[in-house]
Amino acid sequence: MHFSIPKGMRMGVSTAATQIEGGEVGSNWNDWYERGNIKDGTNPATDNDHWIKWQEDTALMAEMGLQLYRFGVEWARLIPREGEVDENAVRRYRDELLLLKEKGIRPLLTIHHFTNPMWFEEKGGFEKRENLHFYLELVELVICRFGDLCSDYITINEPNVYATNSYFFGAWPPGKKSLKATVAVMENLAYCHIQAYIKIHFLRSEMGYTDTMVGCANHLRIFAPKSSKNPWHRTGAHLTAFLFQNALTKAMTLGRFPWPLRNFAKLPTGEYTDFIGLNYYTRSTVTGIGDGVRENSPRNDLDWEIYPDGIVECARQLYDLLPRPIWVTENGTCDNDDRFRSRYLYEHLKAISASDLPFDRYYHWCFCDNFEWIEGNTAKFGLVRIDPQTRERQIKRSGRFYSEIIRHGGVTDAMYKEYVEGQEYTVR
Ligand code: BGC
Repeated sequence: MHFSIPKGMRMGVSTAATQIEGGEVGSNWNDWYERGNIKDGTNPATDNDHWIKWQEDTALMAEMGLQLYRFGVEWARLIPREGEVDENAVRRYRDELLLLKEKGIRPLLTIHHFTNPMWFEEKGGFEKRENLHFYLELVELVICRFGDLCSDYITINEPNVYATNSYFFGAWPPGKKSLKATVAVMENLAYCHIQAYIKIHFLRSEMGYTDTMVGCANHLRIFAPKSSKNPWHRTGAHLTAFLFQNALTKAMTLGRFPWPLRNFAKLPTGEYTDFIGLNYYTRSTVTGIGDGVRENSPRNDLDWEIYPDGIVECARQLYDLLPRPIWVTENGTCDNDDRFRSRYLYEHLKAISASDLPFDRYYHWCFCDNFEWIEGNTAKFGLVRIDPQTRERQIKRSGRFYSEIIRHGGVTDAMYKEYVEGQEYTVR
């Protein structure tokens, strides 16, 4: 045996509504496409069809032996116009949750994953404090309608990535480039998370449940100085990590808002997570405030460094903040030809297995190739390939490897030989 996965750790996959469902739903990403902002011209409305093919996809997940499924609801589907709930969309999500239950796959529901309905976006979205109650109404709807079928929730996916890409770099809708707006969105999202955490617990306990688990999917990277001897590099790494991720995770986890974030609603400090949700992809190597990639490092097809030990280092940072069971809510890689994904899986799971931290769940990103935001369809993260014309689903070699890992509880010598040996990363 090469390694066994930690005792009791369950494994599954992750997706997001906008990235797999398809459909013209009146969201800010439908709009972003129409404005010509997707690099390869992929239209999220006509992509992947999970909204229609959900039964087939769920059956495939069961066939792969997956134990967990993290997916999101599309806000613009559930509440297409302000104050108006689409009961057909509610029913369709309930059916999906019911089928997952029937197949023995445990759902983890993401309430917000980057996408807003245009009616919310046009009011100024998360930048405006007076809009935040709309998000909390969505939370209430989700719990009232799905709370009997699902106990595990992610309030917000990667608030730091959302705030910086949408309000600092201007690459995502609404395309703003303002530090002030970025900070405002971050503190507003921290407020939303804490209020949602309290609300979800309250509503589900009113429904008589005691098994509720609520957290956030934190995107963490390692920020390493290019030269550890250079004080500028060291300070840059420290400051970037603080501004991009550490200030916000502290606010969301503990209700302690370090500068530049303000606790404008005077929320009490507390413990606002039941699990450590970690989305981990890469390490950045920096020379100041900003991003960068280490020279001569193994890279994926988006040029991100592949750094497996980082998954444990990032989990430890969050665990030191508040010790809770660790759920890797996303981990995966862009490998367009499925050339090295098995090695990536092997190395990250091996790092997890060797650690002394309480890893409890692992969700691979992604179940299938999907709409990768502004990259469109050109960046492939899936364990399952989707034919662009026929939409036929086909399990990739890495998908078969992942199934076998779950079935065997680790990687045997024979599996290593069959799937991992000989797979090489590109080094640049
Ligand atoms: C996001 C996903 C995205 C993935 C790969 C994460 O930051 O939550 O939506 O597809 O990374 O880029």
